[in-house]
This record gives sequence, C-alpha cells and structure tokens, in this order.
Amino acid sequence: MILNSSINTQSKDFLENKSFMSELLNQLKDETLKVHNAGGKSACDKHKSKNKMLARERINQLIDTGSYFLEFSTFAAHNIYDNQAPSAGIITGVGLIHNQECLIIANDATVKGGTYFPLTVKKHLRAQEIAMENNLPCIYLVDSGGAFLPLQSQVFPDKEHFGRIFYNQARMSAKGIPQISAVMGSCTAGGAYIPAMSDENIIVNKTGSIFLGGPPLVKAATGEEVSVEDLGGAALHSKKSGLADHYVDSDEEAITLLREILEHLNKKKHYHLNRKEVKAPLYLEKELYGVVPKNSAKQFDVREIISRIIDESDFHEFKKNYGTTIVTGFANIWGYPVGIIANNGVLFSESALKATHFIDMCNKRKIPLIFLQNVTGFMIGQKYEAQGIAKHGAKMVMALSQARVPKFTIIIGGSYGAGNYGMCGRAFQPRQLWMWPNAKISVMGGEQAANVLLTVKQDQLKYKKQNLLTDKEAENFKQPILDKYENESSAYYSSARLWDDGIIDPADTRKVLALGIRMSLNAELEKESHGIYRM
Ligand code: COA
Repeated sequence: MILNSSINTQSKDFLENKSFMSELLNQLKDETLKVHNAGGKSACDKHKSKNKMLARERINQLIDTGSYFLEFSTFAAHNIYDNQAPSAGIITGVGLIHNQECLIIANDATVKGGTYFPLTVKKHLRAQEIAMENNLPCIYLVDSGGAFLPLQSQVFPDKEHFGRIFYNQARMSAKGIPQISAVMGSCTAGGAYIPAMSDENIIVNKTGSIFLGGPPLVKAATGEEVSVEDLGGAALHSKKSGLADHYVDSDEEAITLLREILEHLNKKKHYHLNRKEVKAPLYLEKELYGVVPKNSAKQFDVREIISRIIDESDFHEFKKNYGTTIVTGFANIWGYPVGIIANNGVLFSESALKATHFIDMCNKRKIPLIFLQNVTGFMIGQKYEAQGIAKHGAKMVMALSQARVPKFTIIIGGSYGAGNYGMCGRAFQPRQLWMWPNAKISVMGGEQAANVLLTVKQDQLKYKKQNLLTDKEAENFKQPILDKYENESSAYYSSARLWDDGIIDPADTRKVLALGIRMSLNAELEKESHGIYRM
C-alpha cells in the first residue's frame, strides 16, 4: 500500500527542522573536508614528491569509473590523540572493481607515517569483519610504518590488537576470501606480514619496501649497514626472497595490475534475493531534512521517513493496529526486498512481541532487516514490569540476535538504554550501523542520568544525616553531568570510537542501505538456529 504523506513542506515546523538539519549537514561537510586534508599540506606535498599517490587518490583510481565508494568511519579518532590522526590514518570502505564489491583498506602515510594508533587497529579489524561477514575480497594498499610506538601497549599484544590483522587474513584466505595487497610505501616490522599473508601481492619499485627491521634497527642490532632497497626493496623481494609476486614501477601500474588480479577470482554470489525493478520513492529524499524534528523529544510519524526511503513509497505494513509504537512492514529498496522495523514511540510489551514475530518472519523468508532507531527505551514502572516487559523485550533481543539474515541499523534520532539493544545496536552485529548527524546515543538522556545521580547523592546525605543539597547546589551538581552526556552522546563522539560505521546524510540512506544489501549477496546465510524464548 502506498504511504500517503501528511507533511506540509511549507509549514513553519518543516522549514525550521530543515534549517536545523542543513546546519548539521554543513558541519558534516566541513568536518569531512578537514579529514580529507589528511596529514596536512606539507605531509601531502612530501608524499607526492616521492611520486606516490595519496590514499584517497589510489582508491578513486582503483574502483570502477563513476562508481560509489562506501567509506567507513571517516571520523575515526575525531578529537582523539590531539586530533593528530584524521580518519585514524587509514581509509576503509567498499568499492566496485569489475563490478565486484571489494573491501579496500588503504594506509594514509601522510598521517604519522601511516602508523597504527589503537583506533587504526580497531578500524582495520572492523573492515576485515565486514569482509568476513559479506565474503568480500580484501585489497590492502600498504604504506605504513607499523605500530605507533608511543602507544605500543595499546596496539601490540592483546587479542584485538595488531596481530589479529594477520590472523584474520589467514582465516579469510582459508575460507576462500581473496587477500590481495599492493605495497606502495613502507611495510615495516609486523606490517610485513600483510603482504606476506596475502594470496597475491604487488610491490612498487623505489617506494615499496618490506622488512621486519628497518636499516636503523639492523645497524643497532647487528652493526650491518644496508640501504632500504637492498634490505627490502622491490627488486630484492620479487627476484630473490620471493615475498613479492609482481614488480611494478609506479602506483598507477600497481592499480592497473590490482584490477587485473580481480578479473581472475572466479567469485560467485551465495545469497539470492528476488530483486524488482528499482523505483524512486514518491516523495523526495531531501524532504527527510524537514521531517525530523529539531527538538529530538518531539514525537513524529516514522512512516514519513519510511515513505522517503523505500521504492515507490510502497509499504506492506504488518500488524498496523497492534503495538503501535513500533512500525513493521515489507518494502523494497533499490529493488531489494527488505523488512523494516522502525520506532514510533517508547517500546511496550506489545511492540516487542510484534517486532519478535516480524523478525522471525523475515528470517524465515530470508529477507534482510532494516532497523530505524529512534528510541528512548522500554516503558518502565510497576504496571509494565508486572506485564512482563523485561521478558517480552528479551524475546525481541533473542529474535534479532539469532536472525541470520543481514541486518542494517540506522540511528535516525535517539538511541537510549535497552532500546538500543532491542533495535539492533552495535552489539547485535548488524552488518552495518550508520548515524544521521542529529543522532544521539547514550545509556539514558543527560537529564535522566543527572537526576538519577542526584537522587543517589541526596539518599546518601539523608543516610549520613547531613543537610540535603539546596536547589542551587543540586543544579551545580547536575551541570557537569549534563555537559558530559551532551558531549558523549553526539554522532561524532560515537563515530570517533567506531561505535558505528559512519555519519551519513539522511538523503543518502537509501543508497547506503542498497549498497549494504548488494554486498551481502556475496555471503551464504548461516544455518537457522533458535534459542529458548521466555514465554
Ligand atoms: N611511531 C610513531 N610515530 C612515527 C612512527 C612510529 N613507528 N614512524 C613515524 N612516525 C612519525 C614521525 O615521528 C613523524 O611525526 P611528525 O610529523 O610529528 O614529525 C611522522 O610520523 C612522519 O614520519 P617521517 O619519518 O617524517 O615520514 P617519512 O615519510 O619520511 O617516513 C616512515 C615514514 C614510516 C618510513 C618512517 O618514519 C619510519 O621508518 N618510521 C619507523 C618505522 C618503524 O620502525 N616502525 C616499527 C613499528 S614496530
């Protein structure tokens, strides 16, 4: 059934919302430009003077002309490490090469020599996880000085640290997920294992080098004096050590060869969806800017968002009149069938039961699930506890955790408390999780957290028979908590720490979801399995 919009695009509210979202989008554009400056002008000039292409230029040339690169975690490390590591010094994303979706990981050597900060490691591992889940060939454009030495204790020894990169390569190679690398700069110490653990690799003459210990370390350890070229250059590795498979003279040649390698993978798709003809929504995607209220606490009908994301705004809604604070239904996005679960208010027992039923149905029909999160949490209070809201919420969490279909989560507003869990937050392994720039995420709202802590404080004072805080003192007590929550709940704070895969323009939601679904067709679905539902 076609969703009819009741939005008036000339109304005061719509225009106010739109202007608020435009401010957020301008900020997103500015922050993106800053990050694209990478390590700054002089580092970029130095990089180019060595006849090397910049990381993003390499990617642009590698992917099919005119195709889209779905970049992950552009704002990794934003406002962390004194802002010395834009994008955490590594670019990751999915792009098409000969129409095959490939996971690309490119070190940015203009950022502290492409070395690995803790969040660089986290970002690299997240990209590999995306490749593993979606069965995507991995392409490593290597140009890195290895570990960022001042923070070695946070990148070197633990399970999810540097070594895990090589473990993942071995596991993926074993599963038939091609591992291909091009060494276009340094590849030092542990980093040497990236090309060494690859199925097939390329090294660029004069700029590419691979060694476990560089010339200064060799001199210090053994007294031997040796040049970079003689220790680990392209000629040595392609003619003598056998570590490199292909020798090329420039980044451009390496990229041409990478594209050639991709033509010989013999890859097949393993998950079939009955795709329909792609049809645009009946309403403009850019109208989403005016639909989302400036005041995040204000309630609105989430169907106004759904109608601007799905093909032809055609939504087969399920259980429309039951558990109305959650909207569920089938639709198509870029022709792909999807099941949508969207918040339309606080979660009650009925909403959780309805969502559980719907998730199970999508799972059985092998239809990808889309979660549109805007949730303050589950309803609390004696009446609702007595109705069993905790066990009904648990059913929803059980259903989504065991759903084997690809899941995608978009945080379109607030993401608070157990609502984050019930609506497929990061811990529930959606294939991808994206934030709109207005999104907020925290265990509860700042005001609620400040009030909880104030109540605890007053109770302590009462217990110690001391004077309670006056209204003024209570305000002073609450303010730093409010400030902290405001800062820590922003989309940038989340993206900097990789709690999500990035911040997107709401008008790109359709495209981002379609690309996510498209890449998911590469991987087989796991076997169906059921945990025990508490009845
Ligand atoms: N840890 C921390 N910082 C490092 C680093 C490392 N491993 N390697 C380089 N850097 C920093 C430099 O201090 C410099 O910082 P600055 O801009 O604040 O001065 C920046 O990265 C660029 O380094 P620079 O040497 O000027 O760049 P380059 O392009 O000429 O060379 C490398 C880059 C990576 C080849 C070179 O710096 C190098 O060999 N680093 C040591 C690599 C190493 O031995 N790693 C061992 C890891 S286990």
